[in-house]
Parts: sequence; C-alpha cells; structure tokens
Amino acid sequence: MKFTIKTDLITQIPADIITLAVNNKNQILCAKQIDTLTLKHLNNILKLGDLAERIGSTLLVHGATKYSRIILLRIGVQGNLHPKEFFKGIVSVSNELKNINFTKIILPINQFVNKWISEHAVTEYLVRAIVDQSYIINSLKTQNKSKPVNFQVYLHAIKLATKEMKLGLKHGLAIAEGVNLSKDLGNLPPNICTPNFLANTAKKLGRENKMRVTVLNQKQIEKLKMGSFLSVAKGSRQPPKFITLEHNKGPKNQKPIVMVGKGITFDAGGISIKPSSAMDEMKYDMCGAATVLGLMQTVGQLNLPLNIIGVIPTCENLPDGQALKPGDIVTSMSGQTIEILNTDAEGRLILCDALTYAEKYKPEVVIDIATLTGACVIALGHHVSAVYSNNQPLADELRIAGEVALDQVWQMPLWDEYQPQLNSNFADMANIGGRAAGSITAACFLSRFAKKYNWAHLDIAGTAWKSGKEKGSTGRPVSLLSQFLIKRITDKN
Ligand code: BES
Ligand code: MN
Ligand code: ZN
Repeated sequence: MKFTIKTDLITQIPADIITLAVNNKNQILCAKQIDTLTLKHLNNILKLGDLAERIGSTLLVHGATKYSRIILLRIGVQGNLHPKEFFKGIVSVSNELKNINFTKIILPINQFVNKWISEHAVTEYLVRAIVDQSYIINSLKTQNKSKPVNFQVYLHAIKLATKEMKLGLKHGLAIAEGVNLSKDLGNLPPNICTPNFLANTAKKLGRENKMRVTVLNQKQIEKLKMGSFLSVAKGSRQPPKFITLEHNKGPKNQKPIVMVGKGITFDAGGISIKPSSAMDEMKYDMCGAATVLGLMQTVGQLNLPLNIIGVIPTCENLPDGQALKPGDIVTSMSGQTIEILNTDAEGRLILCDALTYAEKYKPEVVIDIATLTGACVIALGHHVSAVYSNNQPLADELRIAGEVALDQVWQMPLWDEYQPQLNSNFADMANIGGRAAGSITAACFLSRFAKKYNWAHLDIAGTAWKSGKEKGSTGRPVSLLSQFLIKRITDKN
C-alpha cells in the first residue's frame, strides 16, 4: 500500500479507479472536478437507481470513461456523514477492490469532510480502513495463498489542507502498523507464539525503536515474589516471562503511563479445564499483550514525546500433574493471599502481580488490557470493550478516545457492592466471584491490586478477535489507546 497526497487537478492524476461520493439526491459531490464524459456516464447510471439508498452502499461502474472502474459510494445527506458510517463506507469500497492486486486509485478527500470529520480525520480513517481490509496472513499456508494487494492510493485535496492531511497520514500509517503487528501476534498459533516468542518480539521492537526492553526469567520472577503469576505457569513446559518495554521520550520529571497486557499464549483452563469446542481460540488469550506490543510499535514510530511503559506477564495455562489446583492458596507479590477456586480464572492471577510491579514506576496512570472474561462477551457482545476505572476522568478520557478512534469502550460499574462476592473462608480473597456479574467481579479482583494509582481496566474478550468464517484477530484496541496517547500530547501543548 502506498498513500500519496495530491493537490493537482483530479483530471490530471493518472489512475485506473476513482471513488466518488453520492448524496441522497443522487448528486456526485465532486461533479465539478471530474471530466464531462465521466460525469455524463455516471449520471445516466445513477438515474437507473442501482446505487442503493442505504448509507455506505457501493456500486462498481465500468467503462465509457477514462477510468477502468469507478466506485460510487452513498453518503446520504451532504454534511451529515458520521465517522462510523464513513469508516464502514470505506470498508465497502475496499471490498469492491478485493480481487484486484494492483491499481492506482484516487480518493478525493473533500467529499467526506464535515463538521465531525476533519481533513486529518478523513485521511487517518482512510488509511486505517484500507490497511485493515487488505490484511492477510499467509505465512503458514503453502497452498491457496491469498494474493497480497498493493495499491497506489492518491489522496486528493486542496493545497490548504495538506498540512493536516500529512499528519493524518502519519498517524494513520503508524496506527495501522501497530494494529497489524497486534493482529499478526494474535493470529499466530500457540506452538509458535509462546511466552519466549513474545519476549523476542519485544526485544526486536526495542532494538528498532530505541526502547529499553527487559525480559525476566522464572528465577528473576521468583525473586520478585510473584507467587500468583508463577502459580499459573506451573502446569506448562514453556517457562514464563515478564517483559517490560520503556519508551522514555517525555520530559524527565513526567510520570509514565503504564500499559499492562495479559499474555496467556494458550488458555486450556488448567485443571479446571475448558470444554474442547473452539478451544483453539484460546490462542487469542494473549491479545492484551499483543495490544501493548502493537501500541509500542505505533508509539515508537511516531516517537511520541511521552514516557510510556509496556508490561507483559506471559505464560501458558495448562493442566498437568504439577499444575495449580482448585483449593490451592497462593501469595501475590502484594502479600495478599488468594484462594484458587477455578484455575481457569488465570488472567487476573498474572495481572495482579504485574499491577503491583507497576507501582515501582510511580505511574501517572496504569491501564491493563486483557481478554479477561467470557462474561464480558455475554454482557456487551463484540462491538465494544468494557472499561472499569477507579478514576472517573480517566474512564471519560478513554470513552472519548474510543469514539474518536472508532474503537469504542463502555463503562461498567466497579462498585463496592460487588466486592464481597470475592470473600474466601481461608485466604484474603477467592479468585472467582460466582456466576453473577463475572466481568465486574474480575475487575473488582484487579482493583485490589491497583489502589496506589489511577487505573483503568479494559476487558477485550469480545473485541480482540472474530470467530466463525472470518476468524482472526482484530488488532483492537490499539487504535483506541494510540488515540488516547496522541490526545494527551496535543492537550499538553
Ligand atoms: N481467557 C478467558 C476468558 C475468555 C473466555 C475470553 C471466552 C474470551 C472468550 C479467561 O481466562 C477465563 O477462562 N475466564 C473464565 C472465568 C471464570 C472461570 C470465572 C470465564 O470467563 O469463563
Ligand atoms: Mn481462563
Ligand atoms: Zn484466559
């Protein structure tokens, strides 16, 4: 994919394809900027009524013009297009291009600019949507590989807008790359994407982006007394790793933002073993870690002037003669003891020690990202991630960043009323809180380890991957967190 900003007249840009927006009155928004032959042909076709009225509908038009193909995109009432609809529209446009390997395509930017969508935003969304749609994973196929697509995309606009567009392009590309890394890691099989593989990926990121990366091994983790994290790793032949990445490009005295990602590279449930159907999908249980790595890639590429730390506890959760058992009581790094009632509630057990570890950075904010509970999927489905926080302004900040990034979160209650569900007769707490409010009690558990700083928890169990025919990692919520960080810089300046 190559994106180039062009300010020449549209008629002078050599391309095979052009995408044109059509309003609810069947008018082509760029009519004045395209040649009369093309316009006449399109108006004839529009009269036939083949372009559906629904916003985001597309119609592929051939021939009789200087372009080999034209994609018409319905945008509804002019000036009213919502960013979500726009993003979906671009996804439909990309779908029209699915079987083309190479093409030069013109996308006039102005047709989409309105009170909600700036030139910067149009450019960023376009780049993100097109890269997202063209993602393929072929590395482990030897037959029937999908063909990689490689478009030259001309983003057309007036000169005045180029500065904004350049920034949109830069952000869009960096976010798309972070999303792609996160998808790649999520999609890799669990026999390849092991804790060690994640550690090596982090090291590579560190070398490429001048970040300090540290990988602690089993012995070093034992020294830190992370008894809860280590208890999960006991059933596995793959040694656990504790990874940190430090991007210190902010002012020296500025407290860091810490991002903690759940890195269970396979979750069989442990002794409380999961049912076997769709168990392969538990390779995605490291998508929190993949989010942190993808985000650090974006952060590095943009060289954001902030202090940002990535923290990843990573291991497998498997049954074994030496595995953690229901009834076991473990001591976390914080000193609090935990009675294990279900070994499948392992995410919180590795995260709680990482949250305690995060204290050493004296953080401004800590955000953890985890495919934590099936209950979250029941509560919110697949469209939105859950956010919990002990600080309302932080929850609001994340909600707004999600709206802008089109990678939304919905706040759930973290009320004291739920805490007693975690009571244990034998330890400071149990690791599960019963069937009711499963996503909430998991967050309540984590909150007991995040008392010393402003903290938010993202449960991404419903959003990090898709099941069924389109099975695969989504790269969420890299866009949300990128936007969260970028906004923090613009607010400071
Ligand atoms: N990784 C799972 C959560 C999960 C389940 C994510 C299904 C996506 C789809 C987590 O470790 C887990 O197993 N949670 C249990 C908790 C329960 C034992 C309290 C769950 O959600 O069933
Ligand atoms: Mn589990
Ligand atoms: Zn899990």
